[in-house]
Amino acid sequence: MSDTSHRAHSQGPSSGETAWPEGWLTSPYGVGVGRYIDPAFARLEHERLWMRVWQVAARLDEIPGIGDYTTYEIGDQSFLLVRVEAFTVKAYYNACPHRGTALAEGCGHFGRGRIMCPFHGWRWHLDGRVQFVLERQEFRGGQLRDSDVALKEVKVALFAGFVFINPDPHAQPFDEFIAPVRGLIEDLAIGEMHHRWWKSLPVPANWKVAQEAFHEAFHVPTTHPQLEKSGAQVVAGERGDAEFTHRYVQYEVFPHGHGRFFGGDKTPMAGHVNDLQGDLLDAMTARLNLLVDGLDAQVLKEDVDVLQGLRGKPIPEGSSLGAEFAKALFAQAAAQKRPMPKPTREVLSQWGGEVFIFPNVMILPFAGNAMIYRARPNGFDPDRCTFEILSTRTLPEDVKPQRATLQRVTDPTDPEQVRLIPRQDVGNIPRVQRGLHARGMHQVWLAANQEKVILGMHRELDRYLRSDSGAAG
Ligand code: FES
Ligand SMILES: [Fe+2]
Repeated sequence: MSDTSHRAHSQGPSSGETAWPEGWLTSPYGVGVGRYIDPAFARLEHERLWMRVWQVAARLDEIPGIGDYTTYEIGDQSFLLVRVEAFTVKAYYNACPHRGTALAEGCGHFGRGRIMCPFHGWRWHLDGRVQFVLERQEFRGGQLRDSDVALKEVKVALFAGFVFINPDPHAQPFDEFIAPVRGLIEDLAIGEMHHRWWKSLPVPANWKVAQEAFHEAFHVPTTHPQLEKSGAQVVAGERGDAEFTHRYVQYEVFPHGHGRFFGGDKTPMAGHVNDLQGDLLDAMTARLNLLVDGLDAQVLKEDVDVLQGLRGKPIPEGSSLGAEFAKALFAQAAAQKRPMPKPTREVLSQWGGEVFIFPNVMILPFAGNAMIYRARPNGFDPDRCTFEILSTRTLPEDVKPQRATLQRVTDPTDPEQVRLIPRQDVGNIPRVQRGLHARGMHQVWLAANQEKVILGMHRELDRYLRSDSGAAG
C-alpha cells in the first residue's frame, strides 16, 4: 500500500476482515489512524455501533418529575426521553408520526400529561399511545389505527442513575451488557449521586481521541506536572529516577469492552504522597487541594476539611492517615445521612481511579462523589465531538435534588469556564487529532499495560463494526 492508501476514504466494507483498509485495523500494538479521521469509518460506527449499542442518553436528574423530558442526539438521530411514571422512562424517536416534526427540542416538561406536536396538534399520552388526531377520518381511508401513529419506542434501561437507550430492536440484553461492571458501579453508589454541575464542551477531535485522554494515567507527569512533580522532573530530564504514582496504577479490561484503572493504596486519597518531605497531613492536603481547585469535582473542599479535622489526632497502631481519612469521611456522611459507597477495601482502592462503561462513559469516583465524562460524535464529522463533564455527589436524606441543567462551554481554553486539570487534557486533544492527519502517521502505538483499556475498547468496537447484523453479544 502507498503512504496514503491506508486512509482509504472508500465506502465502508459490506462485511468481513478482507474488505477493511489498513488504516482501520487494530493490532496487538496499536490501531490505525483511519479509525479516528476517516469519514467512512465514522459512518460505519454510526450504523453498527451507535445504532446497536447500549449508550447513556441522560442522567435521571435531567428528568426528575413525571412529564419531564429531554432529548439525546447521536449522529443524525434524535431521541426523546420522557419520565412517564416515577420509575418509568420511555425513549422515542423524536419525530411526529404525521409528517415527521421533531416533537421536542432540548429539555422541558410536557404539561397536562401529554405530548403535543407543534405543527398540527396531534397528541400522545406520555407512554406513547396516541390521544388525539386532528381530522382523523381523513387518514388511511378513515381506518387509522392507534398503532399506526403511536410514538416509536426504543429500548431503555435504567441503571446507576443513568438512562441507557439502545435503538436496536434485537439489542443484547442490558443485564448481560453491563454485568462485568455492574457490581463495581453499584458499590460506588453512583446511582445515588446527583448533579453538582454539568458542562458540555465542543472539542475539535474524534470522540475516541477525546475519551482516550482519560483512559490512562500515563500522561499525568507530562500533562499535569503539578499532580506529579517528581515524575515531571524525570520526564523533563531534570533527574534520573523517582517514584512515579502512575506506575502503581493497575489497569483491567472486562468483557464487552468495559475497563477500569485504579491506584489501590498508592493514591493521595489513601494517604500516599510521592517524595514526601515534612508533614504527611500537610502534603496530602496540598495534593488534594490541587484536585479541589483543578477540578471542582471528585475531591471536594468538604472532603479536605474532613482531612483537616484529623490534625493533631494520633493515628492508631496498625492504621494509617489514609485509613483514618476514609473512616472520618464515612463518619461525616453517616452524620449527614448521606449515602456512601460500600466501605470495602475493593471500593476504597478504586477512589482516584476510573471505571469505563463501553463505548463512551467514564466514572471517576471518590467518597460519595464522582466525576463523570462522556464523549460522543458530533454529527458524522470524525474531527468533532461533544465532551461532557459532570460533577456528582450524594445528598443528605432531606435534601431534594435539583433538576440538572447543562452549561455550554463556548471556549474550552477559558479558565473561567473550564478548570485547570480538564483544560490541560482538553488542550492535548485537538493537537492529537491534527497529528493523526499527518500523511506520515499510519498507526498509534499503545502501551501493553498502561494503555490496555484503549485497546480493549477498540477490540470491542471491532466486534460491532465487523458484524453485519445484530449486536455484538
Ligand atoms: S407533523 Fe405533527 S401533527 Fe402534523
Ligand atoms: Fe488528564
